[in-house]
Amino acid sequence: MPIFKSPKGTRDIFYSELYHWQVIESRAREIFRRYNYEEIATPIFEDKKLFLRGLGTQTEIVEKQLFILKYAAQEEEKEKFCLRPEGTAPVVRAYVEHNLYKDWPVAKFFYIGPMFRGERPQRGRLRQFHHIGAELIGSLSFYADLEIIMLASQIIKELGINNYKMLINSLGCNQDKERLKMLLKEKLLGGKEKLCEVCQRRLHTNILRILDCKNETCRKLVRELRIDKEDYLCEECLAHYLNLRQQLEKFKVSFKEDPYLVRGLDYYTQTVFEFVHPSLGAQNAFGGGGRYNNLLEELGGVRGGCVGFALGMERMLMIIDNLPSLEEGIFIFIAVTDKLFYNNAISLLYDLREKGFEVDLDYRFGSLKSQMRRANKLKARFCIIIGKDEVEKNFFTLRDMENAQQMTLGYQDLLAYLSKQKNA
Ligand code: HAM
Repeated sequence: MPIFKSPKGTRDIFYSELYHWQVIESRAREIFRRYNYEEIATPIFEDKKLFLRGLGTQTEIVEKQLFILKYAAQEEEKEKFCLRPEGTAPVVRAYVEHNLYKDWPVAKFFYIGPMFRGERPQRGRLRQFHHIGAELIGSLSFYADLEIIMLASQIIKELGINNYKMLINSLGCNQDKERLKMLLKEKLLGGKEKLCEVCQRRLHTNILRILDCKNETCRKLVRELRIDKEDYLCEECLAHYLNLRQQLEKFKVSFKEDPYLVRGLDYYTQTVFEFVHPSLGAQNAFGGGGRYNNLLEELGGVRGGCVGFALGMERMLMIIDNLPSLEEGIFIFIAVTDKLFYNNAISLLYDLREKGFEVDLDYRFGSLKSQMRRANKLKARFCIIIGKDEVEKNFFTLRDMENAQQMTLGYQDLLAYLSKQKNA
């Protein structure tokens, strides 16, 4: 029985699953390069005020889910930091802190890494999960929204995710959001007792979140409201939305308008979008994003628009069709017929590694049979066998594991043969 298990809501990733991660990451990186996005790596913990200010104090993430670090080297740092729950605010913080505006008035960043939220774990909902995300900083244009959506869709497509939907909505600018909140208040306050307990509180704290409440009664009530974009969007924001929609149609990006989509972070203005997949169940979003025009200024930067997205690695892994299997094994395995020859095996091991070959052996040095079993398990392409004859007469036995043919070769011939096979 193990004494310790990984903490609730976290997972160990290894072997073929880790290989899948690497495949996903490298495909995403290649697409980011195509779109000219630079990688950025920000710290895993940040000043918690960054998120209070950036995401909004009434959001669920900030209210209930921040992993606040108790440790402090100095008294004034006590509970000052938290593990990052998302990547957008840290990227904008870095952009402002390093004054990147000077050289990069429009900056395009991507990031891949762990995020932390103190959630109640369930299928597809973890406390440590991983984002592949991108942020385009410094443009108010709907073409920037288009690029971000095209980029996310490209990654999704090239990863082999099918049957998904992209939902899209616009919340408008600050004034529009206020108008929408007022409208909701007017319409919902009268029948407030029909709302779920959480939404009754949201009426006064975060009314927009009532729109995407999962409670059936709230959903029904909200759907009866019939709020049109024209009811709350100003001319500019409506034009932004319609232009984006037209571009998406032009580039054949399929989307579904969802007037109830608000997303769980307060920083969004204008466009919001989400990628959903039916087989994910209750946590059906595997990615999402939108425009956040206030955050840059809010964090001390110049005024300017930003837009971005993040895809959840774990949820994507649940829906990718045809992940490649980890076919490749080790190139060479060294086996000995007797423990007398360990030293010879170890010398050859480091010599071949130095020369650039993938080589391993079994440190248990059991019987030749058990070493060969290990070679098979590691899917070795060749096995070099060292025994009495080999050492005395100065040659090596090389077994081709594909056809079980064996040959004897001197050291130089062995190197030449393996090099040729490696490059074949
Ligand atoms: P988000 O919707 O909170 O957006 O997270 C993006 C994705 O991360 C979700 O769609 C989901 O796949 C995954 N995710 C979120 N929470 C969990 C969890 N507890 N367990 C497993 N997966 C999870 C953001 O974080 C924004 N920063 C996206 C963005 C970038 N907006 C603008 N720029």
